[in-house]
Amino acid sequence: MATEATEIRGPGHRVKRVEDDRFIRGKGNYVDDIKLPEMLHMAILRSPLAHAKINSIDTSKAAAVPGVVAVVTGDLMAQHNLAWMPTLSYDTQAVLATDKVRFQGQEVAAVIAEDPYVAKDALELIEVDYEPLEAIVTPQRALEPDAPVIRDDKEGQAGNAIYHWEAGDKEATDKAFGEADVVVSIDTFYPRCHPAPLETCGCVADINPATGQATIYMTSQAPHAIRTVFALVTGLPEEKIRIVSPDLGGGFGNKVPVYPGYVVATAASLLLGRPVKWIEDRSENLISTGFARDYHMHGELALKNDGTMLGLRTSLLSDNGAFYADAQPTKFKAGLFHIVTGSYDFKAAHVVADGAYTNKAPGGVAYRCSFRVTEASYLIERLVQNAAYELAMDPAQLRLKNFIRADQFPYASATGFVYDSGDYHGAMNLALEKIGYDELLKEQKEARAQGKLYGIGMASFTEVVGAGPHKDYDILGLKMNDGAELRIHPTGKAILKISCQTQGQGHETTFAQIVAGELGIQPEDIKVMHGDTDNTPYGLGTYASRSTPTSGAATAMVARKIRDKARKIAAHLLEVSEEDLEFQGDRFFVKGAPDRAKTIQDVAFAAYTNFPDGMEPGLEGVSYYDPPNLTFPFGTYVVAVEVDPDTGQWEVRRMVAVDDCGVRINPMIVEGQIHGGLTEGYGIAAMQLITFDDGGNCVGSNFMDYLLPTSWETPKFETFATVTPSPHHPIGAKGVGESATVGSPAAYVNAVIDALQHLGIRNIDMPVTSSKVWDAVQAARAGETG
Ligand code: CDP
Repeated sequence: MATEATEIRGPGHRVKRVEDDRFIRGKGNYVDDIKLPEMLHMAILRSPLAHAKINSIDTSKAAAVPGVVAVVTGDLMAQHNLAWMPTLSYDTQAVLATDKVRFQGQEVAAVIAEDPYVAKDALELIEVDYEPLEAIVTPQRALEPDAPVIRDDKEGQAGNAIYHWEAGDKEATDKAFGEADVVVSIDTFYPRCHPAPLETCGCVADINPATGQATIYMTSQAPHAIRTVFALVTGLPEEKIRIVSPDLGGGFGNKVPVYPGYVVATAASLLLGRPVKWIEDRSENLISTGFARDYHMHGELALKNDGTMLGLRTSLLSDNGAFYADAQPTKFKAGLFHIVTGSYDFKAAHVVADGAYTNKAPGGVAYRCSFRVTEASYLIERLVQNAAYELAMDPAQLRLKNFIRADQFPYASATGFVYDSGDYHGAMNLALEKIGYDELLKEQKEARAQGKLYGIGMASFTEVVGAGPHKDYDILGLKMNDGAELRIHPTGKAILKISCQTQGQGHETTFAQIVAGELGIQPEDIKVMHGDTDNTPYGLGTYASRSTPTSGAATAMVARKIRDKARKIAAHLLEVSEEDLEFQGDRFFVKGAPDRAKTIQDVAFAAYTNFPDGMEPGLEGVSYYDPPNLTFPFGTYVVAVEVDPDTGQWEVRRMVAVDDCGVRINPMIVEGQIHGGLTEGYGIAAMQLITFDDGGNCVGSNFMDYLLPTSWETPKFETFATVTPSPHHPIGAKGVGESATVGSPAAYVNAVIDALQHLGIRNIDMPVTSSKVWDAVQAARAGETG
């Protein structure tokens, strides 16, 4: 007989992350920890040039090195029809170069050896005869008529243009601009940056020559999708391919694409009949794997003198590198088109997006964002800030005046998407209250009177996550739906298998909390499994904050299915009808007689020992979730900075963040996600830049050049929440993983510009380094005196 109900630590509880136990004890199991009998090691030779014809490759000296088992070139791959592979955007990408190299760091050949150091040393003995070609390092140059065609391998590819997309209503937007009192415009560049996960990419490919079974341990954020792509590329039967993504040391979008290293290692294992391990080093990861951003943006905002926003016009040019490999839904420029209008009630908007090939590594990964939302969010928030200066209005008031109101949701945007819910006024008002905005304005006035450069910046962002409804969202035709499978054991403990792939987000804790909330089993009694295609339900993986809105929803749905069956068993045990039962916490009880109850553990035991006649025994199920819409988390960030006029250095004085991701499953984990995102946003705003010289040489191939903020530089964050549940998500949760990286860079930059705006400075492209600030101040002062 059940006694008093216990408190279940479901959604809303700050449950400690179960996965940390193994991580902080050094007991995690990463790909490089996997060691198989007879395992060989692979190293990749990469192109030193950004654009060159390959005349010949001589591998004889490398092949003769003791310990070298094989040297693989593009020609060998071509014999197996594997020299090229499809990308996630219906383009093709060279696995090992055969005709030309198209970016510095491109894969040219691979050495397979008994020892990783032998493999690496032997690379130096491969002789490649390159014939250099003009390197194209900007999309503007790429689109000039006389630019050499980078992708001359593609039939019918006359130039370097990849795509042209438009959204919104051009005519209505032109009309809105015709009615404007003021038009504010900005040209800005969101630089190429790298997600830089601490663990680089790699795999161990193990193909059993006797059974044909391929087991590939891989650093992948999307193991199921990768397995399908592998089956299509290699022709191996899908049931013979098992992708296992064990613990991942961060992904942030970098581990979504299929990399040539995975394919070559798999082909090598197939040919040699032994397991082959490939692990990138840091420079390889920074030079050649999925970059993000690299967006040249032009925006125009039409307003009335009273600050009413009328229309938005934008055009964006993306530098995609040599192969178009974005993991991007096929029907439209997802993310960008969804939220380019930000949190504002625009009647009209028109957005044009073009992409070009250049001689750089493929980019465009969803680095802690849903496709291109980060760029869009940055553009609109920079425009709004500049509009406030133009109209001499307070930037907070300008935003509050134009926000979509809470009673307008669901809200159809000017680009044709429906925002599910929001309370932008609530989030901004809380942020202003928490930072003490009026007081801060006074402080700023006093500081300025003393000649200090003191700025206050803000950004109000809307994110779009949880792709997505099957009608509109697919990658390579695979619908973006996800699953969850739940089994309750006889003793009332459970195992949950999820389709998404954790990379440090804490899914083993939060997904167990979702089940706990639905079924009353404590989270520590639920084991969460992921990252093994043989043992988890199908799904498109974890990126763009989609896990909670998709696989998290499937988890709630399957738990509810099981609860329905549990109710029948409880009714049988209590000899009442199902309708007479209520469920609360961890038990079913008879309405009006709470001491006549059966706990979920009683029911689970009965599911295997004492179930009603005619009922199938057991307590388990699987659900797939096809969301009716995306979810739209949002928030407001306010930053105060002081700029040193003598050095150009800027320091964050205050940083207040208000985030709304609907119901928080685990507030502690959400805060951790936000802290991570705010840090990355700060890094992008202040210091992170991958750039290229005129020859296409990548500058930023190590952590001395590509700067990650450490705890020393990172500002102190003051984080707060509002809660606006998503109306369609089973537990009202929206994703949060990406929001802070999306929203915060504009707040930091707006703060620096605010400190300098009285000098007429309206833009400094990121990263806003001290030298750029100093240059801008000197130029402005020279202008003043000149
Ligand atoms: O797809 P990804 O896991 O990167 O992003 P997410 O779905 O936004 O979740 C990030 C982490 O925050 C996961 O552990 C989620 O379960 C957790 N989360 C939460 O506790 N409450 C929310 N409303 C959203 C996410």
